[in-house]
Amino acid sequence: MADFLSAYSIQHWLESCPQGYLEDTVYGHGASEAEAPLLLENDVIRQDAIRTTVQLVVGERCALAASAGLINAAPDPGSKCFLATQTLDEARHVEVFTQRLFDLGVKKGELEDVIKQYANPHLVKFAEVLLEKVDKKDFVSGVVGQNIVLEGMAFSVFEMMHAINKEVNPKFGHTLAGTIADERRHVGFGENRIGSLIKQYPNKKAEIERMQKEMSYHMLATFADAFRDTEAIDELERIGQARAHAEYQGADLGKLDPAQMEHLLADTVLKEFKVRLGRIGLDYQTPARP
Ligand SMILES: [Fe+2]
Ligand SMILES: [Fe+2]
Repeated sequence: MADFLSAYSIQHWLESCPQGYLEDTVYGHGASEAEAPLLLENDVIRQDAIRTTVQLVVGERCALAASAGLINAAPDPGSKCFLATQTLDEARHVEVFTQRLFDLGVKKGELEDVIKQYANPHLVKFAEVLLEKVDKKDFVSGVVGQNIVLEGMAFSVFEMMHAINKEVNPKFGHTLAGTIADERRHVGFGENRIGSLIKQYPNKKAEIERMQKEMSYHMLATFADAFRDTEAIDELERIGQARAHAEYQGADLGKLDPAQMEHLLADTVLKEFKVRLGRIGLDYQTPARP
């Protein structure tokens, strides 16, 4: 427990995160960095970036509500302190992705309307399944839903987006890199804290596995919608702009069509779920393919 406490302490968080990789950042990126000109000049690509960023804000708002709610459900002081740091991380993620919407031209007064217009209904449902557990102060289900399922998904999505953006849009690439570093810590907490609790409450396994299956279904449906709706790749072709090479999971994303990208992302996330759930003693449940 001593290692667990020091690795997830507020002191460790201060040293590695605000005084570490976030030092000197402004909304997660360098002070002088701006969005890539193409995103600001081309309306189709800009709208596509807005729609994608809205999903990030929706996901991070869910993580903020979940991590804050779980503080009071946590059975031990170490978990409460860690979740307090996570709550600030998630609030920061909400803030940096909201700021990106403003950078992409969304007016402050339009923010909630834009989010409502673009939020994927399956992602909203995904969040509701998790927040229902949090509202019941069900700590074990809440941590699995948040720190394994939600953040496992977020981690892989951010990594794919980071691969696509790091060369062509370093500003957003840097914002994503800091977020990925945070998510890695959150996923680690989920695995380290929950394994022993699952052993303690074996009767909760079936309920948690049902939740994972339902959340996974809505996640896959969100991916399917997102890659079907994207217009950026066709637009790049129309204006004669070559796609950048972007290595992700051994593939060059610059050569894949949206359906192939969707399958690669879905397979990557589901494989990760299986491994992480297995480590904490849960059996991964295959969702229906939407
Ligand atoms: Fe987050
Ligand atoms: Fe997180």
